[in-house]
Amino acid sequence: MLDLSSKTIDESVQGSALESTLNPESKKKFYIESYGCAMNFNDSEIIASILHQHGYGSTQNLEQADLILLNTCSIREKAEQTVRFRLNHFKGLKKRNRSLLVGVLGCMAERLKDKLLEEEKLVDIVIGPDAYRSLPSLIEEAEGGQKSVNVLLSREETYADISPVRLDQNGVSSFVSIMRGCNNMCSFCVVPFTRGRERSRDPYSIVREATELFEQGYREVTLLGQNVDSYRWEDEAHHTSVSFAQLLEKVALIDPLLRVRFSTSHPKDITDEVLFTIAKYENICNYIHLPLQSGSTRILQLMNRTYTKEWYLHKIDRIREIIPGCAISTDIICGFCTETEEDHQETISVMKYGVYELAYIYAYSERPGTLASRRYEDDVPAEVKSRRLSEIIDVHRENSRIRNLEELGRIHTVLVEGPAKKNADSDHCGRTDTNKMVNFAKGNSQIGDYVKVKIIDSSSGSLRGEILP
Ligand code: SAH
Ligand code: SF4
Ligand code: F3S
Repeated sequence: MLDLSSKTIDESVQGSALESTLNPESKKKFYIESYGCAMNFNDSEIIASILHQHGYGSTQNLEQADLILLNTCSIREKAEQTVRFRLNHFKGLKKRNRSLLVGVLGCMAERLKDKLLEEEKLVDIVIGPDAYRSLPSLIEEAEGGQKSVNVLLSREETYADISPVRLDQNGVSSFVSIMRGCNNMCSFCVVPFTRGRERSRDPYSIVREATELFEQGYREVTLLGQNVDSYRWEDEAHHTSVSFAQLLEKVALIDPLLRVRFSTSHPKDITDEVLFTIAKYENICNYIHLPLQSGSTRILQLMNRTYTKEWYLHKIDRIREIIPGCAISTDIICGFCTETEEDHQETISVMKYGVYELAYIYAYSERPGTLASRRYEDDVPAEVKSRRLSEIIDVHRENSRIRNLEELGRIHTVLVEGPAKKNADSDHCGRTDTNKMVNFAKGNSQIGDYVKVKIIDSSSGSLRGEILP
């Protein structure tokens, strides 16, 4: 994975532990680590809220925990290996504290179900993404000495009424889930099996949540879904419906000072209506994550992506026509079943055409139960996958260099997110509307402010700016 700046919907290499402390005075304490995409991180905030309501406090210290939860990802084999490694690490803790409970949540729980209890003896609770409301009762069962599992998927659950406990610390940007599940059947992908059928959350609770965030001082929300363009809320009582473009508009209208982002768009579904809505509202950010996966139409067909290379290129053109200056990022899978050098070169040619601001590049990892694993042989040798991966990464590095050079001298409105990673005492960092991270001398800027910043220096991964008066 090559991530030059931000966290989008995708697997994080490191899990991230709960970063806020809830109910510090409660007796029972849970510790949670999250892996995978932004939606999983947002789910951990829902889980924290459920546990909070049931009197649990949180801890960031494993040794103090009565309950350890891992919110897991199955997207690639490596993501699951990381979780198994973590579980292994907890063995010692469990020996020292016999009443310690360990729960596996999220996509790996859903994929492996009770097999996980057989494979990983120290796991007490297995709970899938649609069953989090039952976590308190599962904990009770486990406290009674019974291993407990709930991996029921739902067609309705959106956790719309649960106010997530914000685990991020910057207090400026936050995720809001607008839908769950996925109805696409991309042949490589495990998500439809781990997250179930697609369902949209009602727009009223989405707007309410975003409004509350704004009132609490947040200045940016990212609307989350595996395929946000197929968001659709049918209000049967009033015979009306809300599309994704309409939802975007509703959230943008909360306040011009609230930035709106979204992820992920599917090239087959993103409409001109969405693009015109982005263009119309200053506070809907000019940034679109548009996963390509492969530049070869033949491979796209095998992947069941339902668009061609030409369709995808046309979408890029439309985005740039309707929203001049819009930043685009992408996901690529290299070495998918039967991929030839020619197919690979087609991916490279689209990478060069797209000049993406950001790209997440992966070697294909076969996932049990998916269409591809049943139909096609994973026949591209590991060393070929890895060579193709580095060739694509090289093209992306060059794209980033070009994009960052173009930034020199530009003036952006930057939302101040917090102290810069380097020189935290003197510098702040923040993002442009186009999702580029910029470091700059703090001056009088406060976290959550918008500042005008002129770009004065650029390296491959970051931009340096100065605040304009
Ligand atoms: N819903 C999003 C992506 C979700 S998964 C979309 O439709 O694009 C995030 C990314 O992980 C995918 O875009 C894909 O590039 C990658 N991915 C998914 N399954 C994979 C697999 N089996 N092997 C390697 N990468 C995979
Ligand atoms: Fe997976 Fe495709 Fe759904 Fe994305 S759209 S989550 S890649 S099945
Ligand atoms: Fe997300 Fe990983 Fe599940 S990418 S939806 S946590 S398989």
